Amino acid sequence: MCGIVGYVGEKKLVPILLEGLHCLEYRGYDSSGIAIHEGQSLNVIKAVGKISKLEEVLNVNGNSTNGKNGSVHCGIGHTRWATHGEPTEINAHPHFDTEENIAVVHNGIIRNYIEVKEKLIKEGTVFKSQTDTEVVVQLIAYNFKQSKSILKAICKSVNELEGSYALAILFKSEHNKIYAVRKESPLVIGIGKKENYLASDTPTLSRFVDKAARLLDNEIAELSKKEVVFYNFKGKKIKKKILRISKSKDILDKRGFKHYLAKEINEQSEVVLTLLQELLPSAEKSVQLDYLKLEPKFLKEVDRILILACGTAYHAGLVGKHVIEKLTSIPVEVQFASEYLNSASLLTKKSLIVGISQSGETADTIAAIKKAISSGATLIGITNRPDSALADMAKNHLIVSRSGVEVSVAATKTFTTQMLVLYLLAVYISETINHEPSTINLLKKELRQLPQLIDQTLAKSEFYQEQIVKYASSKDFVFIGRGINYPIALEAALKLKELSYIHASGYASGEMKHGPIAVLDRGVPVVSIIVPGETYERVIQNSLEAKSRKAPMIAVAVDGDKKVDGIFDTVLHIPPVSEILSPFLTVIPMQFLSYYIAEHLGRDVDQPRNLAKSVTVE
Ligand code: M6R
Repeated sequence: MCGIVGYVGEKKLVPILLEGLHCLEYRGYDSSGIAIHEGQSLNVIKAVGKISKLEEVLNVNGNSTNGKNGSVHCGIGHTRWATHGEPTEINAHPHFDTEENIAVVHNGIIRNYIEVKEKLIKEGTVFKSQTDTEVVVQLIAYNFKQSKSILKAICKSVNELEGSYALAILFKSEHNKIYAVRKESPLVIGIGKKENYLASDTPTLSRFVDKAARLLDNEIAELSKKEVVFYNFKGKKIKKKILRISKSKDILDKRGFKHYLAKEINEQSEVVLTLLQELLPSAEKSVQLDYLKLEPKFLKEVDRILILACGTAYHAGLVGKHVIEKLTSIPVEVQFASEYLNSASLLTKKSLIVGISQSGETADTIAAIKKAISSGATLIGITNRPDSALADMAKNHLIVSRSGVEVSVAATKTFTTQMLVLYLLAVYISETINHEPSTINLLKKELRQLPQLIDQTLAKSEFYQEQIVKYASSKDFVFIGRGINYPIALEAALKLKELSYIHASGYASGEMKHGPIAVLDRGVPVVSIIVPGETYERVIQNSLEAKSRKAPMIAVAVDGDKKVDGIFDTVLHIPPVSEILSPFLTVIPMQFLSYYIAEHLGRDVDQPRNLAKSVTVE
């Protein structure tokens, strides 16, 4: 959950490291730091808080860190989401060994760090921080003293470490080299002319270069200005495939919006259109997922589908369950990835696993998928990141959700594309096994209308803002929905909590009377999601029960619904839409509700406290 960056070349170093760190700030923003070769020494500069704090420190010390006459050309940087030890300067990366000969930045978790630390303490090593990372650098230093060879010291150390790690390492004795190591945490090498880079993700590298090589597990890279040499963990040279990437500065462009979050909410019609053009170019054609090579015979015999995901991706999975079951009659179960690890696996070779993860690197999801595929079931991966661990695991059964980079920590447009992929997967399976052809043809026509409907909903954002901010002083919110909109109630509550820090719960509306209704009073707004269809009357009935308890009542309902207008204090209208497609629209006023309330309360909407976008710890 941390971000790491590195540069070796002829350009000014510090601005490059800072630019890279800004791109990676979504991965954590508790503290940051850089280590650079300067003259004969290694220099480490750190600050607690966001990258802007590090910039302040660097401006104060500007002359020494930008290098004299461009002499500094090699350095590494880190942005941290704290796991071991509080976000203090001592715990911030880079970490030095005792003699300050080696500096290390790390993304991941060292599982056996206590054992290794005890061993090193017995050998006389004195530790300064509470982090697992300091163990890495002290171990490398210890092994370097024994072997006198950098590569041997790294190989010996990684063979002693258990856990996940992407490391960038500087040695004082090697002025213009960075060593990079990967095991189960992402790390990409950017290849330039007379310069080379490393970063935790490809979009960051795409700001600087158009060629990259992904380090795979148990691989090491030695970067100098001239070249990158790759090794395995035995220290043997290996060949790597160099990939073309499109050079782009887009990742940090807010496109005129005040926040990335606002930009990303507003991009939803665009990303839906992109995905439809790719996978459903016309309502008359079948869904373009043939490349998955799932044979009709196999799909006809699928005994169950298990969806594994966390957070917002889990909510997309819950919507997907409704659609897949309706269109294919195959039973679908959705589990929190973290919970699946503790449950009995009932999968068979005839089962399908659908792993959903925006980042493709959420540790819980990856671990759950590893357990699930051991049953011999087939994995379909849905991710926004084709260069991720999930993409590697899914191989040919991968569906990329094509949302573009999502910078804001709160997921919005990627939720929408995850849902859309699940709808298209449901249609694909249904078409392949020839189930419900008439429903499918109608649904495909409606899906093609989505970009327009989403645009019409987004156009109401100012109206939503006017209606919503008066509720910003509430200390608690309740969201209710039924059927396919129950997951939207859950997603709305999650979004409000993470953005505004106001407590919120999502309930299946029928469950309110079984307990949660006790929390209602004048101070707890109830937000009901009510769209015409099977669930309409019952959600109204459950809302009336809440109204009788004096709760302020807000509805998300379609334009022209007079019945709803007459019952609720505030109605957030959406364009008329069929119940099955309604989640794509009902989620939008919920996203704006969370955004505008959080902004009104002065929250950091793009980087809420305590969170990180990629959660790479279990
Ligand atoms: O990258 P993933 O989709 O695997 O992430 C899963 C969750 O951590 C993520 O959806 C999280 O809940 C978001 N912050 C929600 O906005």
